[in-house]
Amino acid sequence: MTVYESQILTVPVLTPFDTTNFDQEKALKELREKIRGREQEAAGLVFDNIRSFERTTADRFLRIMEMGFGKSLGVRCTHCHNPGDWSSDEKPQKQIARDMMKMVGRINQELLPAINNLESERPIVNCTTCHRGQVKPALNINN
Ligand code: HEC
Ligand code: HEC
Repeated sequence: MTVYESQILTVPVLTPFDTTNFDQEKALKELREKIRGREQEAAGLVFDNIRSFERTTADRFLRIMEMGFGKSLGVRCTHCHNPGDWSSDEKPQKQIARDMMKMVGRINQELLPAINNLESERPIVNCTTCHRGQVKPALNINN
């Protein structure tokens, strides 16, 4: 399989925008500049298309993007975003991430609390629990 083919197989939609020169540090700096003075306001008020993190503060929201989402999956912002329009849902990965949030919520709020005799009083999973820096979670200890 060529590099080109493997990209098509892992990214369901071909990206129409050029991300080769994307500078993540610069993008985060620009976004923090843009929200300056509104860091403690709800993300739902500060940004345009928020459906999962309405009440998270704008400042914390950007840290979730960088660490909780980016680092956990081992990807840059452009895996889920067109950096020319952060509010756009044109990349399917963005909606997948919202659906993953729902799944994690159900695991933490319904499924784990229904298991008796666990070690932690309030056991939880998050994106890192499964992804561990990879887009596709491992099914085998050796990969
Ligand atoms: C795994 C996918 C994923 C990654 C990686 C990711 N994001 Fe997001 N991003 C989302 C989702 C999902 C939303 C919408 C959240 C919601 O609906 O509450 C979002 C929303 C945003 C918004 C709000 C846009 C608006 O106006 O509505 C900004 C800004 C943003 N992301 C920046 C970033 C930056 C910067 C990075 C990289 C450091 C990044 N994102 C990485 C999934 C991702
Ligand atoms: C219980 C395990 C588990 C947890 C927790 C989990 N994921 Fe996933 N995630 C998966 C699996 C399984 C897939 C599908 C991989 C495949 O295509 O085979 C996946 C796929 C994805 C994809 C699509 C990747 C791609 O581009 O092909 C995104 C985006 C994603 N997850 C984001 C998240 C985010 C964000 C979180 C935390 C809110 C999260 N996941 C938590 C198991 C998990």
